[in-house]
This record gives sequence, C-alpha cells and structure tokens, in this order.
Amino acid sequence: MGREVKRRGKRWVAGLVAALLAVVLVVLAFPAEVLTGRRHVPPRKPPAFYSGSLYDAMATRDYTPEELFGPSRARSWSGKLYPIGTFPPAERCGRCHQGIYKHWKATLHARAAVDPWYLKTRGLFAVENPKGELALRSCAGCHAPVALMQGEVGLYNKEAASSQEGVGCAFCHTVDHVTGPNGGYVSHPERIRRYRGGGDPLLAPKPGLAAGLLMAYPAAHRQDLRPGWMHGKSASRLCQACHDQEVNGVYVQSVYQEWRASRYAKRGVACQDCHFTPGPGPNLAEGQLVEGYGKKRAFHPHRLTGASVVNAPDRETNVANLRAAVAMEVRVQGRHLVVVVENKGAGHSLPTGAGDLRQLWLEVVGRDAKGQEVFSSGRLDRAGYLDPAAVVFRQVLVDDRGQPLRRHDVWRVAAVASDTRLRAGERRRVVFDLPASVRRARVRLLWRDAHADFIREVLKQNPSHLPVIELKRWSGPVGARQGPSAGRPEAREGP
Ligand code: HEC
Ligand code: HEC
Ligand code: HEC
Ligand code: HEC
Ligand code: HEC
Repeated sequence: MGREVKRRGKRWVAGLVAALLAVVLVVLAFPAEVLTGRRHVPPRKPPAFYSGSLYDAMATRDYTPEELFGPSRARSWSGKLYPIGTFPPAERCGRCHQGIYKHWKATLHARAAVDPWYLKTRGLFAVENPKGELALRSCAGCHAPVALMQGEVGLYNKEAASSQEGVGCAFCHTVDHVTGPNGGYVSHPERIRRYRGGGDPLLAPKPGLAAGLLMAYPAAHRQDLRPGWMHGKSASRLCQACHDQEVNGVYVQSVYQEWRASRYAKRGVACQDCHFTPGPGPNLAEGQLVEGYGKKRAFHPHRLTGASVVNAPDRETNVANLRAAVAMEVRVQGRHLVVVVENKGAGHSLPTGAGDLRQLWLEVVGRDAKGQEVFSSGRLDRAGYLDPAAVVFRQVLVDDRGQPLRRHDVWRVAAVASDTRLRAGERRRVVFDLPASVRRARVRLLWRDAHADFIREVLKQNPSHLPVIELKRWSGPVGARQGPSAGRPEAREGP
C-alpha cells in the first residue's frame, strides 16, 4: 500500500517535469514566421559567386520574367532568378522522409535532367534552333526546373549540382500555382519558413537544432510544403504544367487533357493515385511518413510507376504497370481473327506522354499444317524496324512538309497527322483476314520505348537491341470448324 503511494508520487513529479519541458519546447519551437510574420526572402542582388554578363546587368536593371525564363512559360514568384542554393536539395528532405526519398531517387523525375535520351535530343535542338542555347530554357522548364529558376541554363552557363536534380521534392512542393502547359507554374521556394533561433532546417548542412525544432513543431512545415490545392484531384494541375506540352500550337503531349476527359477524372482518381503508388492501379502504401516519427499511416510512395523500360530504374514495376493497363481478347471467326484490345487501367491514352516515341502494336503470325509461316503482320525485321503495315497504337507528328518527325524533334512540329492510341477505357476491335492455308495463329501485343528511327538517328544505336516487352499473348488453332472460344490466352514474360 505505502509503496503504491510512493510510486504515484514519483509519477506526479515526472508528469510535472514533462509538462514544463513541453511548454519550454513549444515556446522555443514556435516558428518565427507565426510570431513575426517574416518570410525567408533570398537576397535581391545576386551574390558574389555569380558571374556572367546577364548577372552583372541584373544588378543595374530589372529584367522581365520573359527575358529570364522564356521561351519556357515557367515563372518565379518574385519575378527574379533565385540564387543558387535557394531550393533545398532532395537529400535534405530524405534525412527525415527516408522512404519517399528512396522511391523518388529511383524515378525518372530524379533523372529528368540527365536522362541520356533527353540529353542527346537536347543537343540536336541547341544546334538546330536559331536561338541556340537560350532556347534550351524551354526544355529546362520541365526537365530541370530548379536549374531554370536558379539561372543555371541558357546563356548563364552555371554548373551547380542542382542542375542535375531534375524534378525534385523542394521544386514540386513549393509550386504556388499552375497557369497551364509548357512549364506553366509559378515557383515559390520562399514559402519555406525559418524557425526562430534555429535557422533554416532544410538548408542547414547538418541536422542541428533547426531540424529538432521542425520535428517538435511540424505544423508550419506541413503548411509550407503542402498547400491545400496540392492534395487529391486538384494536385493533377501540378502534373499538367509539364505533362501537357504545346509547340507551334500543337499538343505534342496531352496527358492532362486526356485524363480530364476520362472517367477517372470524373470519379476523382488523380494522377498521383495511380503513379505515386506501390504498384499498378490506384492504391496507397501503409507506413511511416517520417522515419522514427509519428504513427503509421497511408501515404503516396512517390514511386512513379510509369511505362519507360529502358531509362526508368524501376523496370519491373513499369512492365507490371503496362501489363495491368491492357486486356486482349482473340476470337476466331472462320478465316478472320478478331482481336479486341482494351485500355482498362491507364487514366489517359495508351501510350501517352511522348506518344510519338513509344510503340505499342499487334504482331500476328499464321502457320500452315506443316508449321510453315504463311502469314505475318507486325514483325520486326533483322535491323529492328517494324513492318510498315503493322497495326500500331500511336500518335504521328509531322513537320510543315507533312513528313513524320523521327527524332522527337518536336520543335519542328506542324500538325498531328494521326492518333490511333487507345483512349482511357476504350475497347478497339481489329480484324485480320488470314489465308485459307493457316491452321494455327499466334497474336502478341508488344511494347518498346521508342521506334527504330529514333534509336538509329539520335542515339546512333542498333534498334534491334532495344528491349521488346510482350504484354499479352494468345495462340490457337484456326479453321472453319473452330468455335469462338478456341485458343488459349496467356500472359507470359516478354523477351
Ligand atoms: C527534420 C526532419 C524533416 C525534414 C528535413 C523534412 N521534413 Fe517534411 N515533415 C517532417 C515531419 C515531422 C512532418 C509531419 C509528419 C506527420 O504529420 O506525420 C513532415 C511533413 C511533411 C509534409 C506534409 C505531410 C502531410 O501530413 O500532409 C510534406 C509535404 C513534407 N513534409 C515535405 C518535405 C519536403 C519537400 C522536405 C524537403 C524540402 C521535407 N519535408 C523535409 C519532417 C521533416
Ligand atoms: C512531381 C512532383 C513531386 C515530387 C518531385 C515530390 N512530390 Fe511529394 N507529393 C506530391 C504530390 C502531388 C503529393 C500529394 C498527394 C495527395 O495528397 O494527393 C505529395 C505528397 C507528399 C507527402 C505527403 C504524403 C502523403 O501522401 O500523405 C510528403 C511527405 C512528400 N510528398 C514528400 C516528398 C519528398 C520528401 C520528395 C522528394 C524525395 C517529394 N515529395 C517529391 C508531388 C511531388
Ligand atoms: C487509373 C490510373 C491512372 C491515372 C489516373 C493516371 N495514370 Fe498515367 N499511367 C497509368 C498506367 C497504367 C500507365 C502505363 C500505360 C501507359 O503508358 O499509358 C501510365 C503511364 C503514364 C506515363 C508514361 C507514358 C509513357 O508512355 O511514357 C505518364 C507520363 C503518365 N502516365 C502521367 C500521368 C499523369 C500526368 C496523370 C494525370 C493527369 C496520369 N498519368 C493519370 C495509369 C494512370
Ligand atoms: C517540372 C515538370 C514536371 C512536373 C511538375 C511533373 N512531371 Fe512527371 N515527368 C517530368 C519529366 C521531364 C519526365 C520525364 C523524364 C525523362 O524521362 O527524361 C517525367 C516523367 C514522369 C513519369 C514517368 C513516365 C515514364 O515514361 O515512365 C510519370 C509517371 C510522371 N512523370 C508522372 C507525374 C505526375 C503524376 C505528376 C504530378 C504529381 C508529375 N509527373 C509532375 C516532368 C514533370
Ligand atoms: C512541357 C514540358 C516539357 C518540355 C518543354 C520538354 N519536355 Fe521532354 N519530356 C517531358 C515529359 C513529361 C516527358 C516524359 C514523357 C513520357 O514518359 O512519356 C519527356 C520526355 C522526353 C524524352 C524521352 C525520354 C525517355 O527516356 O523516354 C526526350 C528525348 C525529351 N523529352 C526531350 C526534350 C527536349 C530536347 C526538350 C526541349 C526541346 C523537351 N524534351 C522539352 C516534358 C517536357
């Protein structure tokens, strides 16, 4: 009994000490911004480590945003260039958001500025465009937004580590609002507030007091880095800025528009619900948002499940994503092979994005009673070129003479000549007429990241080495007496 009272007494003292500590912590940790209304504003004048004529001139006259960022539609909130180092690098966020950082690091967003296919095409553009290097800012608006905002592209010629970051945490999470396609965002890194006495927890080279304050009082951090609109369906606007690309009045990429017209947008399924997920389909992961902090909750893992096979580091997830996005049914009706292909999982056209590069097509092979090939459609030749008569789901962009663009040289685009991609939810019926001698047929739905011309002319590589992924396969007997259910559908691993 006596012991019991003593223990209770101890608990009471411990509780008082804890409460006092908590009060001290709250006072200490209260962000300066909340108390003083001050914002962290980077210096107006470029610091000493900048050089080059434009930077020198910046000190004497105000440049218009068009002069600083054009031809990209990207703008800074201040209307000025931000000094190098304004955007905290992704590793800083990764100190606490370890899981999300690991995911992001292995995505095309992390590599957008150093993607080898991008750099090769950008090289062509720099040479062919009369504005030369200045025009590279248009690419940077989407592929290297921090470099553009910090004046590291196009006549400034700065080589900072941030030029390599691509589409990073601090960039996406500080966009103020979106005005439209072609990098149409207003970037506002000054919205990240400082903690009183602790300095800047995100820019400090070592996790010190500032980081501790952030952990104790994350509310301001949350507000700064997750504005209300960057949540749920309206967050898709962020994606629109870069995934809708308009050149010479022609939409060469229109992922956001395709999504807007789909049943997914109507149901409130946003871009990140399918792409910032652990795997194919709309779902979230269960885990800890910040390592060693807080409770487990459902969150978006930032994995960027997409479609790229060659350049994306997470190739298996992308292949699984592609397979889950399509369905294929095959029916034999006399001498006709009826193939129905459905876009059942993509929230936009299939393929989407760089629809001029990607190839999705049907390969059909028919054999006679002796096993000899007597019919084919959609075969690749030895050099890796696709049968010109193949049934391909693609977008053909042409120049002003009506010639297809072969090098993703979208700056020369004059029109979309044809668009046979599968729209979200669309079922497409394709009929192949087989010769009478065919006894057995095989149908495969195949994918590769780019057509042969691009691989040969831009990358100077052999197109037959590009991986071809088998998404669906069917094989079965063909003959007058075969019913509609003949054949065996299979979904096997591609080559
Ligand atoms: C010192 C640790 C730390 C660092 C560094 C850090 N964060 Fe956080 N972050 C937190 C904590 C703690 C929370 C609150 C988590 C919770 O509510 O469960 C948080 C929450 C967030 C949220 C809001 C999540 C929600 O609940 O809606 C976002 C967005 C975010 N951080 C982004 C970033 C970005 C971007 C960076 C880098 C620029 C970054 N964080 C750096 C600790 C950190
Ligand atoms: C392409 C833009 C983009 C990039 C890059 C990005 N994020 Fe996000 N992030 C988002 C969007 C959009 C959401 C909101 C999802 C929602 O709430 O619907 C989000 C959500 C979050 C959340 C809240 C998690 C949740 O789902 O509740 C945290 C924390 C976060 N991001 C941290 C980071 C960190 C750390 C990085 C870098 C390693 C990063 N983000 C990179 C766009 C981005
Ligand atoms: C219902 C789920 C779903 C929604 C919603 C969705 N996507 Fe996708 N997305 C997919 C699937 C599945 C693929 C792989 C098949 C393909 O390429 O279309 C894909 C592929 C992509 C690709 C790669 C295309 C390529 O061929 O390289 C990009 C880029 C993309 N999506 C961006 C977006 C954006 C931006 C939004 C919102 C405007 C969005 N997605 C909405 C499921 C979805
Ligand atoms: C600042 C521009 C920018 C923003 C904002 C942006 N992206 Fe991207 N995204 C890119 C670029 C550039 C690439 C391609 C990088 C490369 O391959 O060179 C890409 C690649 C992707 C891919 C991979 C495509 C593939 O082929 O596998 C997906 C999926 C994707 N983005 C989804 C999104 C979603 C969802 C959002 C919105 C939450 C978003 N992106 C916001 C610029 C952006
Ligand atoms: C409006 C934003 C935007 C602009 C401007 C832009 N890109 Fe892209 N680019 C993207 C997105 C988003 C993707 C990813 C599409 C996908 O995965 O389907 C991409 C993909 C690419 C790819 C294919 C990469 C791969 O690995 O498959 C190349 C090459 C490329 N861009 C080159 C360029 C060049 C060169 C410029 C400047 C002339 C440029 N882009 C301008 C947004 C943009």
